[in-house]
Amino acid sequence: MSQFQTIIVEQHGAVTLIRLNRPDALNALNSQVLADLIEAFAAYEADASQGCAVLTGSEKAFAAGADIKEMSNRGFSEMFGENYFGGFDRVVATRKPWIAAVAGFALGGGCELAMMADFIIAADTAKFGQPEVKLGVAPGMGGSQRLTRAVGKAKAMDMCISGRMMDVHEAERAGLVSRIVPAATLVEDAIKAAAEIAAYPPLATIANKEMVNAAFETGLSAGLLFERRLFNGLCATADKREGMVAFVEKRKGAWSGK
Ligand code: CAA
Repeated sequence: MSQFQTIIVEQHGAVTLIRLNRPDALNALNSQVLADLIEAFAAYEADASQGCAVLTGSEKAFAAGADIKEMSNRGFSEMFGENYFGGFDRVVATRKPWIAAVAGFALGGGCELAMMADFIIAADTAKFGQPEVKLGVAPGMGGSQRLTRAVGKAKAMDMCISGRMMDVHEAERAGLVSRIVPAATLVEDAIKAAAEIAAYPPLATIANKEMVNAAFETGLSAGLLFERRLFNGLCATADKREGMVAFVEKRKGAWSGK
């Protein structure tokens, strides 16, 4: 079903698999990749048959960063004028859940793109880094902010100003990665995890996602109030009633998405 230049999109039941596909450039993120991702995520969001997405790369690289060759001749006016990384906000705005399945290099914009996902499942080969300092720049797609929130100041500062890479075990200990799986089964394991998520009532999934994201962006009392109000709101849904009645009747819930 893929009509894209730089990504391949497939549906596996209720799971949309989006694979970055610029092997010659280690999946570097250029303007075409961004345009393709925006379109693919919008299509996923609009398709009621799809309940979770997985974004992955190749065995060697999830993505080795923003495209250095494309950026090399752009000055401030071009980057600012084009709002060069701004389109990624549209990917982040996806309300339905998505997982980053990372093998190999996730560097610079690659690490930042993975951190835009709801969580990261990583192969034992995954390596994360923010090496922009070596190019005379700094993260531009959220690395200094999301990495710091994910792993704390000490490690985020270390990563950003030393430009070193974290292996998958360090990344998991630090809280960047949620699950580590063998490289050989990464995509299969991520699709399996996504299929479980896709099988839950969709409104509850979106509410859970909004609540956890609120913890990233608000203080504790505002976050707790948001959580409680949204919990109360879910009690007005048909799937809440079905979920609780199904539990009492010892059967599986049959979700309406309402
Ligand atoms: N942009 C453009 N092209 C890239 C790229 C990138 N970020 N990363 C790799 N490539 C290209 C290489 O230029 C090379 O192309 P050619 O064959 O045409 O020369 C090809 O991909 C293969 O790369 P290597 O030969 O370098 O592969 P390697 O195995 O020797 O090294 C690597 C792998 C360590 C990941 C190395 O490619 C590398 O250091 N890449 C750059 C990583 C980086 O600095 N990322 C940050 C980019 S800036 C950014 O992302 C800003 C932001 O915050 C949004």
